[in-house]
Amino acid sequence: MRHLTVKALAGMALFTGGVAISFAAGNVAGDPTKAEPIAEKLCSACHGMDGNSPVTTFPKLAGLHPTYLLHEMHEFKEHHRENEMMAPIVQDLSDSDMSNLALYYSAQKPAPDVVTQPDLLALGKKIYFEGNPDSGIPSCDGCHEESGAGSDRFPRIAGQHADYILEQFKLYSSGGRKFGKKVMRTVAERITEQEAKAVAEYIASMP
Ligand code: HEC
Ligand code: HEC
Repeated sequence: MRHLTVKALAGMALFTGGVAISFAAGNVAGDPTKAEPIAEKLCSACHGMDGNSPVTTFPKLAGLHPTYLLHEMHEFKEHHRENEMMAPIVQDLSDSDMSNLALYYSAQKPAPDVVTQPDLLALGKKIYFEGNPDSGIPSCDGCHEESGAGSDRFPRIAGQHADYILEQFKLYSSGGRKFGKKVMRTVAERITEQEAKAVAEYIASMP
């Protein structure tokens, strides 16, 4: 049995048995191999076995930081984040199941996403790096990093499905993710539909 303890070190890459887990802070301990049968039975239909969900409204989990994945599972379990598909699934998971699943999915390789509206990429890039000073939207790179890979404190968003991102903006502005970071609610409330589509397309295009 392989027991894995991943410690909080910014930018550190940990290599165990050929699996690279690269993330920053937080402390998620567990055994990702134990998560495989659970992922297959309970998660793969929606998120894929490799964490690259086949449906664009289901988020990709591959390569997301384990601290973030674990935190969001707890958010669903505690009904801080409401979703009728996720809520019943997490109820029966133990803390160690959730840690193992977080390590398992974070070690999967994210696949690049499909851009459906390439004409929006230029505006999307501008929003990502400059925000919109006129309407008070902050730039995204300050927290999610230039590459979209995030860090210990901020989730990876690069390559995420555009449809899922747009859905999250709606949830942030309507209160569906009311325990989320305040800045995300501010972004979602101020961003126009066109800007949201554009930045979602740009994020989806990030490798
Ligand atoms: C029936 C489909 C379905 C199944 C099965 C499912 N999920 Fe999800 N999952 C979703 C949807 C839809 C969302 C997005 C919810 C939202 O918009 O708030 C989500 C969101 C998540 C998130 C948050 C991702 C993010 O980027 O914020 C995590 C983590 C997650 N699921 C883990 C799991 C795990 C682990 C399993 C198996 C134990 C699982 N899910 C099973 C549909 C599913
Ligand atoms: C001050 C830091 C900060 C800034 C600036 C910021 N974000 Fe975030 N973002 C976060 C945090 C923290 C989360 C994690 C979820 C939460 O707490 O709600 C998040 C979550 C998200 C998510 C949901 C990820 C998921 O997997 O569900 C998306 C999409 C997103 N941000 C996009 C953006 C975009 C686009 C911008 C720029 C217009 C932006 N963010 C600016 C901190 C930030």
